[in-house]
Amino acid sequence: MVSPNIKTKANHPQTFAIVIMAAGKGTRLKSKNAKVLHSIAGKPLLAHVIEASAQVVPAQDIYVVVGHQAEAVRRRVESTGVRFVLQAEQRGTGHAIMCARDQVQGYQNILVLSGDVPLIRPETISRLRDFHLSRKAAMTILTAEPDDPAGYGRMIRAGGDRVKAIVEQKALNKAQQKIGEINSGIYAFATKPLFAHIEKLTTDNAHHEFYLTDMAALLVQAKANVLALKAGDAAEVLGANTLVELAGLDAALRARKCGELMAAGVCIYRPETCVIDAEVEIGPDTVIEPFVQILGKSRLGQDCRIRSFSVISDSRLDDGVVVRPGCIIDQSQIEAGALLGPYSHLRPGSEIGEGAHVGNFVETKKACLGRGSKANHLTYLGDAQIGAGVNIGAGTITCNYDGENKHVTVIEDGAFIGSDSTLVAPVRVGRGAYVAAGSTITDDVPADSLALGRGRQAIKEGWVKQRKERKAAGK
Ligand code: UD1
Ligand code: CA
Repeated sequence: MVSPNIKTKANHPQTFAIVIMAAGKGTRLKSKNAKVLHSIAGKPLLAHVIEASAQVVPAQDIYVVVGHQAEAVRRRVESTGVRFVLQAEQRGTGHAIMCARDQVQGYQNILVLSGDVPLIRPETISRLRDFHLSRKAAMTILTAEPDDPAGYGRMIRAGGDRVKAIVEQKALNKAQQKIGEINSGIYAFATKPLFAHIEKLTTDNAHHEFYLTDMAALLVQAKANVLALKAGDAAEVLGANTLVELAGLDAALRARKCGELMAAGVCIYRPETCVIDAEVEIGPDTVIEPFVQILGKSRLGQDCRIRSFSVISDSRLDDGVVVRPGCIIDQSQIEAGALLGPYSHLRPGSEIGEGAHVGNFVETKKACLGRGSKANHLTYLGDAQIGAGVNIGAGTITCNYDGENKHVTVIEDGAFIGSDSTLVAPVRVGRGAYVAAGSTITDDVPADSLALGRGRQAIKEGWVKQRKERKAAGK
């Protein structure tokens, strides 16, 4: 038995499930990948719909109808705790709900959402639910009046908020083509009348599919109450059938994200040029300059400055970090007050300590740089553990790869690595030691010692003058 998950005003327990239709192929995207796995704001369309749904009902009351690339879709979102319904053959939106029947008919009501309508807000889903319950409707359709209704099913109203039918784009007659009110593909149903009549759906239409939209006319015929509720903001219910529409939704969602961040005290210049994913967190008084990308689950503290053309993915930046132009930071952690760039490349597993500097054309990978250490120019640090207060001279390279295996370089606190040194790992430079510029270091360097690993310089005094004299004498 399903337990009630909402109480009406009259305190009658009502049970609600959300069904998300996500089995379609997405033919109009012209992509080999399932439509609902295409991303906007760094997250699959379906994940956005699940996130909004999970704020209205518990995850175990959410049923995702999967079919096209069912396994891939399931794998991508199963960590959310939702349930799945298999629609092995995709025979239309009405058929998707027929497939869910056994799993959801025990609920008194269902809300039906589309996996390709991702901007829907939880408040709007709740509003639809409350309206549907308070009006005791058999079916309530969330509608909107977008600037361009082309491609959507249109609402045929019977007067007031009563609905006569939904007519799909391809079946519109001339007069109906002028209707600006569209079906959002989001509905509330009382399950009893829905499943009492769903078998009456036919495939007598342009796509030879069972249209869920035909339930409106079927229920009206059965004298049931079918209503329309208009969404306050049409942008929330736009669908993504083509890549052009997808790009539009992505831009809308990112604009919404920048708006939220700015409202919370993050200073974003020219936000329309910045690409910030939905799950990114940024502290107040951080400044984001134009043309910056902050992706995945990145978390930035307060008072940071991210200069133009930097791309930060899945990384943590603590307070007061400055990222100069053109840095790439991926799966790395940067502690407070560190200074990066311009043009630094921090690859996965880089950990930059408090107040440390990583400068021009420096690449790091699985490298820890301790507090206050500096690697300012033209350097590669891979598989390196570097202590505090270390200076890495320009052009230093850790040779971490012998062609078969990776090895670690350890540089202890306070060491000084002269410019253009190569450190052949595995190797250790002890505390406070010096490596002379231009050295190739193959053996461990004890603490506080100087290591020279280079050819000795020879001087031939007067050599240039003598050569000139030889030339003049014709020899
Ligand atoms: C649908 C509506 C249309 C509405 C529009 C809003 C129908 C017949 N039409 O059209 O009135 O204006 O949404 O965006 O419903 N799906 C399945 N199984 C299937 C077919 C589709 O799960 O067999 C899923 C798709 O993955 C998608 C959703 O249902 O997430 C909607 O299907 P889609 O083909 O995009 O319908 P539209 O043509 O957009
Ligand atoms: Ca659609």
